[in-house]
Amino acid sequence: MSRSHQDIRADILNLVKEYYDARFQKSEFIPGITPVRYAGRVFDFREISSLVDSSLDFWLTAGRFTKEFELEFASFLGAKYSFLVNSGSSANLVAFTALMSPLLKEKKLNPGDEVISVAAGFPTTLNPIIQNGLIPVFIDVEIGTYNVIVEQVKKAIGPKTKAIFLAHTLGNPFNIDAIVEVCRKHELFLIEDCCDALGSTYKNKFVGTFGHAATFSFYPAHHITMGEGGAVITNDAFLSRAIRSLRDWGRDCYCNGGDNNTCGKRFTGKYGNLPAGYDHKYVYSHIGYNLKATDMQAAIGVEQLKKLPEFCSIRRKNYKNWMEGFKKFEDKFILPRALSESDPAWFAFPVTVREDAGFTRTELTNYLDYHKIETRNLFGGNLLKQPAYSGINCRIADTLDNTDRIMNDTFFLGTFPGITEAQIAYSIEKIESFLNSKKL
Ligand SMILES: Cc1ncc(COP(=O)(O)O)c(C=O)c1O
Repeated sequence: MSRSHQDIRADILNLVKEYYDARFQKSEFIPGITPVRYAGRVFDFREISSLVDSSLDFWLTAGRFTKEFELEFASFLGAKYSFLVNSGSSANLVAFTALMSPLLKEKKLNPGDEVISVAAGFPTTLNPIIQNGLIPVFIDVEIGTYNVIVEQVKKAIGPKTKAIFLAHTLGNPFNIDAIVEVCRKHELFLIEDCCDALGSTYKNKFVGTFGHAATFSFYPAHHITMGEGGAVITNDAFLSRAIRSLRDWGRDCYCNGGDNNTCGKRFTGKYGNLPAGYDHKYVYSHIGYNLKATDMQAAIGVEQLKKLPEFCSIRRKNYKNWMEGFKKFEDKFILPRALSESDPAWFAFPVTVREDAGFTRTELTNYLDYHKIETRNLFGGNLLKQPAYSGINCRIADTLDNTDRIMNDTFFLGTFPGITEAQIAYSIEKIESFLNSKKL
């Protein structure tokens, strides 16, 4: 008698654990040989098992795992709606573009409106503003928190300013009370880019739950991963409709893939100038995209999400270890700083080489690279100095002096759960030997 598919599936999934144990042995750290990574995937057999489980369904597009992930993710953060997309950049694109939805009526953003932003950051926080024909207004950031200078934000707001779109830089919450107050006073939308900040809190509440919408990335460098992936959350019913529609080709219909007639009026509605009863499945209320993820990505995410609280506490512990190690070099580096109301689940440990340190950032990062210690710059430095952005239509509120300093003098080290105490201690030792070699 042939075996049932359920039995075969169970056998395959058991084999996955055996495979994981054989394939992904933890190797010993050999200083100078084993790379000290700044980020990376942290997983066990459960993620692979879930991925294989989903592949055996062969549903491929959004299905049971997507539904589970979206529900769990919203419930973890305390948000009403959550939408899985194929990257953090896509999350930024749909969240921002939703502000231009006709569903928002007279509140909607229009081309030519201004949006407060920063140049010291990741390009795809800025890109949706430009791609939608709006004008970014650049504000300088503080060295240490790497977040926007609130006084400059207040001064920069003009009659055309309609929104604020900011990241919590490297997981460090910006001054949310002050920014929310500015938004309330001037009736601005606030979008929080939490791509680097999943699990960070402000006044004991998760970041991403203060603005009108928030975005997350699940690329391997981030707090949880699906390889590629992202999410948008919101509590606003209109924004949620716009976000879903923009993600799903622009369609008006909100049936899940494979379902029909969830709204109960599939053949009875009247939309635009279409004939009465035109199939709702093919009615488009936004000029949209297809930015959906697959169920296999979601299957990995479901398991990663269970590990998120532990991942965040390891990130906090690693940050503390870096801080203790760096204390003795404080005359050479500006160390990171968080607001007292916040508890960041740090994406990384950023430092800025002091002006009179006697060496350059690049000299040090080259030295660390030679000793197998990975570092990264704070993303694009000053995005306005990047080739893609020369000549864009924008307003610079004040000087971008600190942004330029970050471009020249700032770098970050890893806090991800894959980095160990021994690796941090080795890195600190190497920084010390670099300073000694310079007789500093
Ligand atoms: C602040 C910020 N926003 C957006 C993104 C884009 O995310 P993704 O790589 O998933 O497109 C990143 C990527 O690292 C990021 O750091």
